Amino acid sequence: SGYITLDPGFKNTGSTKSAITFLDGEKGVLHYRGYAIEELAEKSTFLEVAYLLIYGELPAKDVLEKFRSDIRAQMMIHEDMKNFFTGFPSKSHPMGQLSCLVGVLSSFYPESLNPNQTEEEENKSIINLLAKMPTIVSWIQKKSLGHPVVYPKNNLGYIDNFLNMIFGEVNQEKTFDPLVIQAMHTLLILHADHEQNCSTSTVRIVGSSNANLYASISAGINALWGPLHGGANQAVIEMLEAIKNDGGDAEKYLAKAKDKNDPFRLMGFGHRVYKNFDPRAKIIKKACDDVLEKLGVNDPVLDIAKKLEEAALNDQYFIDRKLYPNVDFYSGIIYRALGFNSDMFTVLFALGRLPGWIAQWKEMRDNKEPIGRPRQVYIGETLRPYVEIDNR
Ligand code: CMC
Repeated sequence: SGYITLDPGFKNTGSTKSAITFLDGEKGVLHYRGYAIEELAEKSTFLEVAYLLIYGELPAKDVLEKFRSDIRAQMMIHEDMKNFFTGFPSKSHPMGQLSCLVGVLSSFYPESLNPNQTEEEENKSIINLLAKMPTIVSWIQKKSLGHPVVYPKNNLGYIDNFLNMIFGEVNQEKTFDPLVIQAMHTLLILHADHEQNCSTSTVRIVGSSNANLYASISAGINALWGPLHGGANQAVIEMLEAIKNDGGDAEKYLAKAKDKNDPFRLMGFGHRVYKNFDPRAKIIKKACDDVLEKLGVNDPVLDIAKKLEEAALNDQYFIDRKLYPNVDFYSGIIYRALGFNSDMFTVLFALGRLPGWIAQWKEMRDNKEPIGRPRQVYIGETLRPYVEIDNR
């Protein structure tokens, strides 16, 4: 196998040509379909960005209106789905529930199993996922509280609907400060795609076997769950809490992160591609300050986060390795200020990443890419005779 190039972690291997997201890690640049993330975060909405990522262009007014109303019309989930919630232990992690429930959607839409489905059928799966994921996520939250679920409402926008299903009660619609709605749009937009990261590569590789869209997204959700990827946002807040409860000594934890004999890593720091700064983190840090101020929340972990960031940015270990705060460092502090439990943070990442996963799955299909199948360099035993059990 001399001709095989070994690249563990695919640090320098391109798996596809893609026209969706451009990323320059040295300069801290991120574009979706040619539009700068800073501009989209400020001016666009989550569903508009979803349309842009999936179909390649910013939608005209009437196109966006149809997209939004198609989604609104599909937000309800089948009542039989409630049976699955009943089966989960009350302490099951929301990410495990989400991947299961998204995968199971294929049972309700078996036409999605046909790899030769028409464009119209494929669009139905796309709309279904965008529409039903907020409802599923909110039902997971209600299940964790033991509260009755709140159904989606036809008169509400995507984010208002989601927040109402999460924080509202049956027969009692809740309204939200425009700044809170804006913060949710911003957060979801910033998470919406990030080229060939672990979960997106998973979605593409699972889809490359002609697995259906629901199954492929479900696999992506599981990949996202890990603390080195999307699970970092929950891990960050737990780390900050632990530092707070241990006297708030940032330097002590910095030393732990630098100690190669200590498995502790500074969660929310470092990135495979960004070696200068993560442009998403910059936007989120600002949003974090704005939201906490507006809501009048004084979260002591925000001070610890800022102390930790400053100490790390001035520390030779972090400077040498080009380690900077990533998208997950401040996002959890905003989610917490909005009222989410920490085990819901990665689910919110998944909700944001959904359009990116869909766009990448669709691009892979449209380009008729071959099944993903990496090679290996075998380092095991050479051929040897079988040993009878009495002789081992
Ligand atoms: N704390 C302490 N040391 C670190 C950290 C960290 N957070 N991240 C990297 N390093 C060190 C690492 O030990 C290595 O040192 P050395 O060269 O002495 O062996 C060097 O920096 C390079 O790290 P790496 O692990 O080879 O880099 P990678 O590209 O394989 O990993 C990463 C990237 C994001 C997994 C890693 O930086 C990490 O574990 N960060 C913490 C988890 C985290 O915040 N993940 C969210 C990533 S952004 C959102 C997302 O993609 O989901």
